[in-house]
Amino acid sequence: MSSSTVITNIATLITNDPSLGDGSPLGAIRDAAVVIDGDRVAWTGESSKAPATDNRVDAGGRAVLPGFVDSHSHLVFAGDRTEEFNARMSGRPYHAGGIRTTVAATRAASDAELEANLARHLAEALRQGTTTLETKSGYGLTTADEARAVRLAARHTDEVTYLGAHIVAPEHADDPAGYVDLVTGEMLDACAPYARWIDVFCEEGAFDGDQARAVLTAGRKKGLHPRIHANQLSHGPGVQLAVEVDAASADHCTHLTDADVDALAGSRTVATLLPGAEFSTRAAWPDARRLLDAGVTVALSTDCNPGSSYTSSVPFCIALAVRDMGMTPDEAVWAATAGGAAALSRADIGRLTPGAYADLTLLDAPSHVHLAYRPGVPLVAGVWRRGVRAV
Ligand code: NIG
Ligand code: FE
Repeated sequence: MSSSTVITNIATLITNDPSLGDGSPLGAIRDAAVVIDGDRVAWTGESSKAPATDNRVDAGGRAVLPGFVDSHSHLVFAGDRTEEFNARMSGRPYHAGGIRTTVAATRAASDAELEANLARHLAEALRQGTTTLETKSGYGLTTADEARAVRLAARHTDEVTYLGAHIVAPEHADDPAGYVDLVTGEMLDACAPYARWIDVFCEEGAFDGDQARAVLTAGRKKGLHPRIHANQLSHGPGVQLAVEVDAASADHCTHLTDADVDALAGSRTVATLLPGAEFSTRAAWPDARRLLDAGVTVALSTDCNPGSSYTSSVPFCIALAVRDMGMTPDEAVWAATAGGAAALSRADIGRLTPGAYADLTLLDAPSHVHLAYRPGVPLVAGVWRRGVRAV
C-alpha cells in the first residue's frame, strides 16, 4: 500500500481547478491542505477538513502551487556562448547563426559530458520549482548526433522533442533541400523512437513555411506530434502553419499580425511565450495581453539554451511576463503551470486535483503573487515530484 502525506497550514493553495476555492482560473483555496497518496494528489480542501494520513507536513502559512511545467528548453548541448552574449550586450544583434557554435561543441562532446550537462540543468530547474521539463535535440544536425541527443534526453524526461530542423547543418549549407530530405528521412527514422514531439525553427536563416510544413508532416506520419518555433525574430508563416497542422503549441509568438492572433484564438494551439529570449537578446517583448484578450491559451516557459536564453528559472520568466508583457500575476502563474501542461497536451500535470501527479512547489511566501513581486529572490522552499520530496 502506498503511503499518504498531508501538507497542512497552506495559506494559499493553487489548484488550477476553477470549480474550487475562489472560483478564479487558479482555483485558489485559502487555509488549505493537500493530501498526497503515492505519486498522486488524493484530496485538496480547507485545512480543518483534511483527512487523517500516515505523515503530516506543516507548510507554515506559506503558498503551495503545482510544479512548473517548462514546455520549451534546449538542454542537450555542450559549451556556452558567453562571448556572443557579451558582444550582444555591446550592441551586436542576435541571429540564428550562433547556433553553429553550439553545434560544433555538442558534436565534439562525449555522451557522458552531454548527459552530465543535461542532468545538471534539470537539477537546477528542479530547485527552482520545475517538475516537468520538455527538452529538444537540435545541436547535432547529423543523423548520429541528433539520435544521440534524443536518446540521452529520453533517459531524463518523457517530453522529448526532435529538432533536427533547427538550422540547416553546416555541411548542407549549399543544399538546404537535401538537408530537409535528411531531416524528414533517415534522421527522423533514427530519432522518432525516442521522441514524442517534432519541432522546426521557422524563420529567416532557418526554414521557410514550405520546408517547415514538410518537416512537421513527415514527423506526424511517424507518430510525432508537431510544435513549432514561430514568429520569433521576424514576422513569418510559422503561427499560421502551427494552426494549419494543429500543433500543440506555437512557441515565441513575438511578431504577430491580427490575423495570427485570430488564427490562434480559433484553434487548439497554445501560444508559448519565452521572455528569457527577449531578455537575453534585448528584443521587444511578446504581447501577452493581446493574446489573452483574444482568448488564446498562453503558456510561459524558459527556452533554456546557451544562445538566446540561458535561464532555467520559471520564476524569473513569470516576473518578466508580469512586469513587461501585460500579464497579471495570476495569469503568469497559470501560464507557467496549467499553460505549460496544455502546451504539452497533458491533463495529469499542472494542476493539483485528485488524480493528477503530486508535483508541488512550496514557496517561502504566503502567496503565488510573490513570484513576480519579489523578482530574483529564491522563493522555492520545497518541491515534491511524483509524490516524493525532491527539494
Ligand atoms: O528558441 N530559435 C531557435 N532556437 C533557440 C535558440 C538557440 C540558440 O541560439 O542556440 C531559441 O531561441
Ligand atoms: Fe527554442
